[in-house]
Amino acid sequence: MITAVVYSESGGTYKTTMTANIAVALERMGQRTLVVDLDPQEGNLTSLFDAGERRSDPDADNLVKHILDMPEGEFDELIETTAEGVDIVPSHDMLGDFTSNLEQKISYETGMKNMSREEYPRFELLYELLWEKAELHEKYDAVLIDPNARAEDLLYNAIFALRTLVAPVKPAGKGNLSLEGLEDLVGNMERQLDIEIGLSCVIPSGVGQTNAHQQYQQQFEETEAFATPVAIGNRESLMDAMWEARGSAFKVVEERWKTFERDGEMVSEAGQRRVRDREIETLRRLYELAQFIATDTFDADVHPVLELNIQDDGTNVIDLRDGEKAPVKTT
Ligand SMILES: Nc1ncnc2c1ncn2[C@@H]1O[C@H](COP(=O)(O)OP(=O)(O)OP(=O)(O)O)[C@@H](O)[C@H]1O
Ligand SMILES: [Mg+2]
Repeated sequence: MITAVVYSESGGTYKTTMTANIAVALERMGQRTLVVDLDPQEGNLTSLFDAGERRSDPDADNLVKHILDMPEGEFDELIETTAEGVDIVPSHDMLGDFTSNLEQKISYETGMKNMSREEYPRFELLYELLWEKAELHEKYDAVLIDPNARAEDLLYNAIFALRTLVAPVKPAGKGNLSLEGLEDLVGNMERQLDIEIGLSCVIPSGVGQTNAHQQYQQQFEETEAFATPVAIGNRESLMDAMWEARGSAFKVVEERWKTFERDGEMVSEAGQRRVRDREIETLRRLYELAQFIATDTFDADVHPVLELNIQDDGTNVIDLRDGEKAPVKTT
């Protein structure tokens, strides 16, 4: 079973786009993949994948009701299947009030059972839901979580449930700081919860061509402290188009989504994007990253060949067993 929380202490480090791309890559490798969105804010994984139609409806059954053990339906009914085959448990606005709802539950239950608040297993609720109640291991090969780093209760629940982190970092003075934060967080949680937490890898992302950026990347690649299987370049145009394509970077390239100006207005359409070698290379790296997580961290067997069926441009076959060789084009 592949389980990972895509974690970064700082905001805007490409967690959500990274989660979507890893999830779709795993799905394309033959892994039945579920993503759980714990971020109630705009621009979350749920909106990226065009899911969660009832995320603002307080009457709708939702993930928070299930985590707090007050479901109004089956857990399976929360799950939606996206256009690219990845399943998602969508976000809900109620995630924004998670801690206050949890505090109420704790007051009620500790009062009933004459137990102290400190004894209450507040970080173990998601674990119980995903593995003991929903038995996700019966239905999926991979589960990824896009957490809300600012909401400690939800983040700790996510880490307690999945135990492994994947950490995208951005090249800035802050990149290093957030890694120190990561080590502190892991150490604290391991002690507090008496569990082991693994760091699968760190992914330098948004790396540009400037000297400072290149040096930063090199610094990451040379360290022994953690694995950096790939670095992802500055790919704003490709990743931003994901929000229009409502899916992964693989979908953007295959359907050739592009945002451009027409008659003074910005529009986004499929069938418009030029196929660029550097973007194909980025897809290869994302696929390689998913392969690293699956095989190096979790010992899973995955399909190492990525076939891109690009609209009006034939098929690109990328075989990860070929090392650094250029993709084969078989139009
Ligand atoms: N490699 C990249 N290079 C440049 N821009 C990128 C890259 N990856 C993603 N982006 C863009 O950066 C923006 C922020 O990405 P994203 O929403 O994934 O970050 P996040 O860490 O989830 O943010 P938040 O902390 O708000 O949840 C998006 O507009 C996205 O398209
Ligand atoms: Mg996000």
